[in-house]
Amino acid sequence: LPGKLLHSRAPLPRPFEARLAIPAVLAGEEIVQREADLAILPGLTTRAWTYNGSFPGPTVVTRSGRAATVMHRNQLPEPVVVHLHGGHTPAGSDGYPIDQIMPLPPAAVHHDMATMAGDTTVGARTYRYPMQQRAATLWYHDHRMGFTGPAVYRGLAGFHLVRDDEEDALPLPRGERELPLMITDRAFEEDGSFRYPLGDADYMNGVLGDVILVNGRPWPVHEVDPARYRLRLLNASNARRYRLQFDPQPPGGDAFVQIGSDGGLLTRPMGHDTLELAPAERFDVVVDFARWKPGTKIRLIDRDGGDVMRFDVTGPKTDDPSRVPPVLSTSAEPLPPPKRSRTFRFGQGRDGTWRINDLTYQPGRALARPRLGEVEHWRFVTDFHHPIHLHLNHFQVVSRNANEIGEYDRGWKDTVDLRASEAVEIAVRFTDYTGTFMLHCHNLEHEDMAMMADFVVEP
Ligand code: C2O
Ligand code: CU
Repeated sequence: LPGKLLHSRAPLPRPFEARLAIPAVLAGEEIVQREADLAILPGLTTRAWTYNGSFPGPTVVTRSGRAATVMHRNQLPEPVVVHLHGGHTPAGSDGYPIDQIMPLPPAAVHHDMATMAGDTTVGARTYRYPMQQRAATLWYHDHRMGFTGPAVYRGLAGFHLVRDDEEDALPLPRGERELPLMITDRAFEEDGSFRYPLGDADYMNGVLGDVILVNGRPWPVHEVDPARYRLRLLNASNARRYRLQFDPQPPGGDAFVQIGSDGGLLTRPMGHDTLELAPAERFDVVVDFARWKPGTKIRLIDRDGGDVMRFDVTGPKTDDPSRVPPVLSTSAEPLPPPKRSRTFRFGQGRDGTWRINDLTYQPGRALARPRLGEVEHWRFVTDFHHPIHLHLNHFQVVSRNANEIGEYDRGWKDTVDLRASEAVEIAVRFTDYTGTFMLHCHNLEHEDMAMMADFVVEP
């Protein structure tokens, strides 16, 4: 297992007692990071680190081609760093792990944090997002050096949806029939607070909680019309992978019609019975709940770990103007041949640290210096499971074990699921921005234990 199961000490609710909640859309351009007491378990409160008091944070919605800014104020007791995952973002706003927003008052800063200082600010920071990128399901989360796992676990994660004209022109389900679903796992202390084994070497493979939260609610239920819904699935768990399936499955199979991946719409839709989501991956799917009889309670399950949530199909057949067109997008033609190839080996050192090319992360040491505008092929090799994530540009998977690409590798990706003894090759073109960006494992415990590298895009 890519992780170790941590058991809750609090009494847990039964599945399907909570209602699904949809995070509010951010009004304005400011997010306050602060502690808040959330109602997650019945009768208890959970002290969380939040964006604007909620977990997930507010959904940021932006428009392709229209520059956006988000100002983050840090009212938490520790430094924070904000990364827009999947964002095509200049280095200065990309959330480099030592570019911290220090808390106020600065006296609260520990000595070791101060010496780590990169381009830090105190109290607040404005992140600038040019949004020169296509419509896609992005997400934002904390990215502080050595502390991303606990910070995200405490609640610092939210959706960021980019919209554009190409996608708006399609008759996809929208409004109440478009649901962003952030799946995470957590364990709880007796008093309801999040239980995280900070610094416990037993959990260096990854922390797995025993409660599945969807949009911050334990195993929630959502009532749906017998109609098509667009589900923007995000695995925001620290280490847990999911193999999602419906129970019962609809007659005829292919319950999920995938329309998009990390980087936006696929060229053509693709049907799946099961969806495999490694940490940080997104799958944009359309599910037609009219394929089940009204009244059916459909469990969304993880084939490896039990219940996730439930959809209750209610009401008579309604109007459903939505469709999934046979062609979704034209923007996924293959990249030209690479100027250069590189290999990155993901492995573990004798001291237990997680490494890339046998190096632990050191800010300022670049493992690659690609040139702006050029295409490169990067080969990722491992003997353990690692979800590999690249900042700056989306990529295309070229091959898995020198064969074709896998069932879940289609479209533009920013995170690729690298499994034990596999080699995955990706093609990426570095565009628009020079400077320092990150390549890392998105198992957050591996990331915190140094499985990261800088790459510098040179002019
Ligand atoms: Cu979602 Cu560098 O991370
Ligand atoms: Cu890893």
